[in-house]
Amino acid sequence: MRTIDWRHDRIVAIDQTRLPHELVLMEIDTVEGLVDAVKRLVIRGAPALGAAGALGVALAARLGPGDPAMVATAAAAIRTARPTAVNLAWGVDRALARLPEGSEAVVAEALAVLEEDVACNRALSARGASWLTERVGAPLAVQTHCNAGSLACVEWGTALGVVRALHDRGALAHVYAAETRPLLQGARLTVWELAQMGVPHTLVVDSAAATVLARGLATAVVVGADRITANGDVINKVGTYPLALAAAQAGVPMVVAAPESTIDLSTPTGNDVEIEVRGGDEIVRWGGGEVAPAGTGTLNFAFDVTPAALVTAIVTERRVIEPATGGRPDSTVTGQ
Ligand code: MRU
Repeated sequence: MRTIDWRHDRIVAIDQTRLPHELVLMEIDTVEGLVDAVKRLVIRGAPALGAAGALGVALAARLGPGDPAMVATAAAAIRTARPTAVNLAWGVDRALARLPEGSEAVVAEALAVLEEDVACNRALSARGASWLTERVGAPLAVQTHCNAGSLACVEWGTALGVVRALHDRGALAHVYAAETRPLLQGARLTVWELAQMGVPHTLVVDSAAATVLARGLATAVVVGADRITANGDVINKVGTYPLALAAAQAGVPMVVAAPESTIDLSTPTGNDVEIEVRGGDEIVRWGGGEVAPAGTGTLNFAFDVTPAALVTAIVTERRVIEPATGGRPDSTVTGQ
């Protein structure tokens, strides 16, 4: 089952807010409905947001054939539904560029985005698995963060795609999944996917991940990305930066698996990226009740920036970039 797809001129997506308890498909037939689904993380994860952006423009083109102004307004609303993952704007722009050719062409472009996502993920996963087994050796034990699996993409996954490829090759011993406060994408989504794959796994609280690395339980960190800037800084779910610091201290490679569409060469460094700040409710409430005194101020960063110097490898469908030793996404293609 695909995480996000197009059926009968509507978007169909797994409602990720209901997992792991229920696997429910949501039909989206308005632009407002799509924007709301993106904001509430019904659809989430950078590559899935790229697909949502492209399909959202297709939906608008179908709803307003011959009304380019309406489609442009819809595209602007979708583009800005969340600010950090570059894939969302990338998907919108790809589909929008075909609007002068008519809605049929817009839909075709959006469907091409979906197909490419699956192919890219499979290719980068195979490359990541090869890089890891050559550099680290097998069997590997992987620490991951957030959810960069099939749920974060159209299908297959990026970081969990690498995990899947390692598992298929018999080169994976174990995965440690960080729960990923405050919305628990690790506990709710990654663990659900690992169980489906039959991968041996253990859930740890975010603050235990450094200890997992320091004790040699995990031999590699593999995560996804929401944006990678021209210098190799990696923007991903908040908690990735501390994980990279811990990995460096433990001498464990920090590997980022992402499609080329996540690389944003127009943004020089991570300091230039807008980091989404979400509502404080997500951290002062837990299990339906308040966990902090009423009126407590919050700063709920949804993402963080891992400096390039802490990133051992960025693996895409085309190349391996090694920022910690001077590789940059904006330089000539390097690696395997
Ligand atoms: O807030 P989310 O759940 O959309 O954040 C997702 C992440 O940070 C993922 O790690 C990232 O998008 C990569 S998904 C292949």
